[in-house]
Amino acid sequence: MKVLVIGAGGREHALAHKLVQSPLVNEIHVIPGNDAMESIATIHTDIAEADHESIVDFAQKHQIAWVVIGPEQPLTEGLADKLQAAQIKVFGPNQAAAQIEGSKRFAKELMAKYDIPTATYREFNRKQQAIEYVQSCEYPVVLKKDGLAAGKGVIIANNLNEAYEAIDTLFTNDGETVIFEQFLEGEEFSLMTFVNGEYAVPFDCIAQDHKRAFDNDKGPNTGGMGAYCPVPHIKDEILERTNKEIAQPIAQALTKEGYTFFGVLYIGAIITKEGPKVIEFNARFGDPEAQVLLTRMESDLMQHILDLESKQPIHFEWKEDAVVGVMLASKGYPSTYEKGGNVSGFELNGDYFVSGLKKINQHYVTSGGRVILAIGKGNDIRSAKVKAYEAVERIESDALFYRNDISDKAIHNNL
Ligand code: AMP
Ligand code: GLY
Repeated sequence: MKVLVIGAGGREHALAHKLVQSPLVNEIHVIPGNDAMESIATIHTDIAEADHESIVDFAQKHQIAWVVIGPEQPLTEGLADKLQAAQIKVFGPNQAAAQIEGSKRFAKELMAKYDIPTATYREFNRKQQAIEYVQSCEYPVVLKKDGLAAGKGVIIANNLNEAYEAIDTLFTNDGETVIFEQFLEGEEFSLMTFVNGEYAVPFDCIAQDHKRAFDNDKGPNTGGMGAYCPVPHIKDEILERTNKEIAQPIAQALTKEGYTFFGVLYIGAIITKEGPKVIEFNARFGDPEAQVLLTRMESDLMQHILDLESKQPIHFEWKEDAVVGVMLASKGYPSTYEKGGNVSGFELNGDYFVSGLKKINQHYVTSGGRVILAIGKGNDIRSAKVKAYEAVERIESDALFYRNDISDKAIHNNL
């Protein structure tokens, strides 16, 4: 069958790379894709990700059997609804269900109503109310913008002054909703869960992202600076509790409220003293979690999507290898950065997934904040880390930076 992937980043590079290996898939297209995907898929950079009408037209003309939507933006803008209206099968939730990522307030209200463990919160849409609240709240307090913010709409304020500053940053206009959350302490992990209505099947391999820009979790939040899987020091018991206390109840809750979620629900969780709690939900695969999880996945992703559609049992198989992925980002990211820096030295053989490069005269130059994820595989996390940093070293560029400690939490916890 013919499959169309929507998106242009490293996650979509990994999705296309994985799907093309399926015996069920004989043709793969990506809209808009990026130049690094050329060898595995037909890319259509002339069609914009936001141009829903052209995407539907394309899928009809090319008799696409399945559309797999990678990023959050087209999901929250209703691309799945438009494809479904044209009788095209789509992996990715409709606009109403995608609110679970698109609106923090929607997610918090749903969790409160159905007793799903998460940080307690207050919401304000008047700056003055927020200013009064932070004068007597507990610190640290976490401020979150209601809408999509590419991992950059969250500020942790440690004291009143930082809270005032955060309020100024996030209340760009009065009437905007900002969530004020209790600060939770603990280790974070990412659990991808296949969801079709009330049928929810969590991956039995979790991943761990590194959200802060610099080593030792310092610096600003980013979209993700590296990830690894499996996470040996987070035990099956935590995975089972997350399934029982979060994954199953949220699928039930969405269904009871009249939403039909079909796709991957990303559970961003934190292990507190009281057990796992939700930090955030996403309506799609994590980036760069997808790159490491799909590298480790032995079983057929396309078959899993078909089994999810018909609510059949899903049997994951994973390679023995551990997988570590290190993100190389443009210097300055997640703040302002320059584009156009030369990048070379990598081969497109599954060891690198590209998020922000384009080809000019047969050379790759940077075109985004996060640029390329270098993958390492090994029989444990330690050796996978060594391989990943060897892959980093092969890249030649003076436009990029990266963290040196991706996967160290696993290494330190297993000593
Ligand atoms: P989010 O975009 O909601 O995932 O938040 C980005 C990052 O901010 C998370 O990965 C956490 O590291 C941190 N964070 C968000 N909410 C909380 C919270 N309630 N307690 C502690 N850290 C948080
Ligand atoms: N890596 C975190 C995310 O995809 O939201």
